[in-house]
Amino acid sequence: MARLPVVGGNWKMHTARGEAVALLSALRRELDGLAGAQVVICPPAPWLGDAADALAGTTLEVGAQDVHWEPKGAFTGAVSAPMLASVASWVIVGHSERRYLFGETAEETNAKLRASLAAGLSPILAVGERQEEIGRVADVLAAQLTEGFRGIERLPADVVIAYEPVWAIGTGLAATPDDAQARCALIRTMLAERFNTASADACRIQYGGSVITGNIEDYAKQPDIDGALVGGASLDAAAFATICRAVAAA
Ligand code: PGA
Repeated sequence: MARLPVVGGNWKMHTARGEAVALLSALRRELDGLAGAQVVICPPAPWLGDAADALAGTTLEVGAQDVHWEPKGAFTGAVSAPMLASVASWVIVGHSERRYLFGETAEETNAKLRASLAAGLSPILAVGERQEEIGRVADVLAAQLTEGFRGIERLPADVVIAYEPVWAIGTGLAATPDDAQARCALIRTMLAERFNTASADACRIQYGGSVITGNIEDYAKQPDIDGALVGGASLDAAAFATICRAVAAA
């Protein structure tokens, strides 16, 4: 089954506005027109409008890093899916930094996923085990998928899963390509059981966690890994472009 891989660049809480604008124009120069991979740039929320402007008319797409589940209301500091939909087409949901640094619950992740889909945003649902959960990774992934997709009848084609072992994020301790492949294959099996084989086969599953130019090829060639979610290396236009090209060429 040929799946178009997706590479996400999650800038997290980095870049001043001038840096963001410069990075966006460098990415546009490097990556516009790239065939063989979808590229999603996820800047901090205040620069989403800049990103939408800078990337308009290109093949690069804009994503948000988080979303609130209510469409509007008295939720100081929060940003809703319908708001994001006017500047972005993607949103990361359930990133481990939201789950474990900000205490996002499984119910909230599920509500965010549903709100994103309702607003027409393509969610990247992030799942992955913590260091202390390595021995029961299958149970952790099963629970995150079950809870993440609660109330969702069919697997929408525009949902991407990011398998991101928490211990590999920002640490330089990337999962081995074999382990990452095994986990992504396991996720696909779980999706087939939860939904059906056809939609599981069609679903893009990324690997994330210390992806750099030096290791991306080893992930990209794995049969069940369909791109990457990149944090630190996405802040360097040349490095991120190399990663995207490696994915597109795999
Ligand atoms: P990293 O972050 O590439 O810096 O490890 C990955 C992520 O959080 O998605």
